[in-house]
Amino acid sequence: MSSDATSDVGTQVEAARLAALAQIASATDAAMVTKIGSELAGKKSVLNTLRASLGKIQDAEARKVAGQLINESVQQVEAALQQRTAEFLVQERAAQVASESLDLTEYVTTNRRGHSHIVTQAMQRLEDVFIGLGFQVAEGPEVETDFYNFEALNMPRTHPARSEFDTMFIEPFSSEHEANTVLLRTHTSPVQIRVMQSWEPPIYAIMPGRVFRRDTPDATHMPVFHQIEGLVIDRDITFAHLAGIIESFTKAFFGNEFTSRLRPSFFPFTEPSAEFDIKRSNGDWIELGGCGMVHPNVLRAGGIDPDEYTGFAFGFGIDRMAKERHNVEDIREMYTNDLRFLRQFS
Ligand code: PHE
Repeated sequence: MSSDATSDVGTQVEAARLAALAQIASATDAAMVTKIGSELAGKKSVLNTLRASLGKIQDAEARKVAGQLINESVQQVEAALQQRTAEFLVQERAAQVASESLDLTEYVTTNRRGHSHIVTQAMQRLEDVFIGLGFQVAEGPEVETDFYNFEALNMPRTHPARSEFDTMFIEPFSSEHEANTVLLRTHTSPVQIRVMQSWEPPIYAIMPGRVFRRDTPDATHMPVFHQIEGLVIDRDITFAHLAGIIESFTKAFFGNEFTSRLRPSFFPFTEPSAEFDIKRSNGDWIELGGCGMVHPNVLRAGGIDPDEYTGFAFGFGIDRMAKERHNVEDIREMYTNDLRFLRQFS
């Protein structure tokens, strides 16, 4: 009986040990391992309750061996539980780190660099073309006085042409300090005066910049937009030089298949004045800007003697040019800072 009992207990211990290990192996997470832990290795576990049957084994030595077998099996099960728990904790931690991590290297690894806005691109190309024609670049303030924006440009306070410029004033118009009234420049023409005042002729200058008008934004208008002004002051400058520069510029900027034409027009600061249009050989005329011979009053306001020097000036909008060039339907799109729009023009 004793050897039977021994082998009986031994078989049951072995079966319980294998069953426990199998259950541990099939656990799917740490919580499940904890839950089955006490069932498999606790006081009431199959293995530990088998200790009660040790008494059936008569032979002291055999009983001792069977007891050791139980102890070893319990230890093995405990070790397996611990190891499995540790494995799950590592896995769960890795999954948590992966799900909560922020990939701060996204822009670096995708090598996505920014680029200039299409208006800036157009401005830079315009500058390049005019620098190639021998012009220098000048800039003036965006916040101007009534003097530079209007008066020096042959538009005294009562001049009807002032109403064409829907001016945004920084301070209310004061009749006492009329000429010092502060406003946002409505065109780049005031920079002509500043250049004439600070440079000596001969002057070959372009003046790009931001201008402001009280316009309601729509598909072709923005209250803030960009112009480029041109000014040439030298001896014996004629209208033919103006037409020649406009034509050279047209071909250099838009391409050889383009031509320009001048149409009579009116600006208070030029006399005679013209509007200039451009056209692709098989296309329609597109109106680009205004130009003309600098009015003697404007030369005088800039400190230049009209008997000694003559000159011409031109000015046109940059935003619409960029819009046409890139087939942008609505000019407002250019200023909403939507990256999906902006990224198309790198
Ligand atoms: N300043 C004018 C405008 O904004 C354009 C212009 C510039 C016309 C220079 C003639 C000479 O409409």
